[in-house]
Amino acid sequence: MKKAYVSLVMAICLLTMMIAGCGKQPVNKSESKIRIGVTVYDQYDTFIGQLVECFVAFQSDDVEIAVYNAAQSQQTQNSQVKKMIEDGFDVICVNLVDRTDPTTVIDAARKADVPIIFFNRELVEGDIGRWDKLFYVGANAEESGVMEGELAAWACITHKELDKNRDGVIQFVVLEGEAGHQDAIVRTEASVNTLKKQGVEIDKLGYAIANWNRAQAQTKTTQFIEDYGDDIELILSNNDDMALGAIDAYEAMAIPRNKWPAVVGIDGTDVGLEAVRDDKMLGTVYNDKEGQATAMFDLARVLAGGGSIEELSDKYAIENGRYIRLPYAKVTSSNIIRFMGK
Ligand code: BGC
Repeated sequence: MKKAYVSLVMAICLLTMMIAGCGKQPVNKSESKIRIGVTVYDQYDTFIGQLVECFVAFQSDDVEIAVYNAAQSQQTQNSQVKKMIEDGFDVICVNLVDRTDPTTVIDAARKADVPIIFFNRELVEGDIGRWDKLFYVGANAEESGVMEGELAAWACITHKELDKNRDGVIQFVVLEGEAGHQDAIVRTEASVNTLKKQGVEIDKLGYAIANWNRAQAQTKTTQFIEDYGDDIELILSNNDDMALGAIDAYEAMAIPRNKWPAVVGIDGTDVGLEAVRDDKMLGTVYNDKEGQATAMFDLARVLAGGGSIEELSDKYAIENGRYIRLPYAKVTSSNIIRFMGK
C-alpha cells in the first residue's frame, strides 16, 4: 500500500516536472491562491498530454495546479478525486476514464461542494444534470467528423489518382478510437456520411478499433494491408496518432509513397501536423487544445471565486449553462503555418 502511494506521488511529481518544466519551484500557499486539481484518463495519450501541458502553463504564484494520472483505471481516478477534495482543492478537472461511470466523482464532489469541470471525455446529459456545479469543456464531435469527411471528399474529387483502380469508387478503411467514446462513434459516422453527401462513391473494406493508439493502429493497418493490399485508397482515422500508426505500417512494410492511400486524421498534435507538413498525411482537423485549456482555466477561476459560468458568456458560447465547446478547424499543407508551433 505504502509502496503504491510512493510510486503514485513519484508519478505525479514526474508528470508535473515533465509538463511544467523541471526548473519550476513550488510556490507557497497564500490565502488568495486558487488550487486546481486535474486527473487524466491516461497521461501517455498524445492529445491529452498536450492539452494538459497547455493547462499547466496557467500555473503561477496565485494558481496551483496538480495533475494526477488515472492510468486507465476509474477506481484510481475516484481515489484521486477524493484525495484532491480532502487536500482542499477549489475546483477539480476530470478527464473521465469511463465516461459512463462518473457517479463516485459526482457524489464525492457534491458532498464536499467542490465544482467539477469534466473535459474531453463527455459524460452523458443525465449525469451532468445531477448537480448544478458540474460542467463540461470540449468540442463537438460531429463537427470534427464532418470536417474530416470534407477534407477527404475534397481530395477524392480533386485528385482523381487517389482512385487507384479507376473504378469510380473509393475503397476505404476506418481506424476507430475506444469503443464507447463520443469522439469515436460520432466521428466515424459523420465523416463517412459527409463523403457520401459530397457525392463521393465509397466502399468500406473494413474497420478496426485501435483505442487512439499509434502502435495498435500500426498492427491493425498491417493486417488491412495483408488483407486488401493495394485496394485501400483512403484511411479515415478518428485521431492523428492512429493515422500515424497507419503510416508507420506502410513505412515498415517498405511500401513506396506513391502506393499509399490518402490518410486523414483529427487533432493536429505536433506529430500530426508534422506528418501533414511532410506530405505523409493528407490533412487533419485541429482539436483546439489551447482553446480548451484556456476555457477550463477561465471557468475554474470563476468557479473558485464562487462565480457563475455565465460570467464567461462574452468570451464563450455557453450551452445549457453547463457546456463550453471550442470549434475545430481543417488543416492541410496550404494553411498549416497557422497551426504549427501554436
Ligand atoms: C482525441 C484523441 C484522444 C481522446 C482521448 C479525443 O478527442 O481526438 O486523440 O485520444 O480524445 O479521450
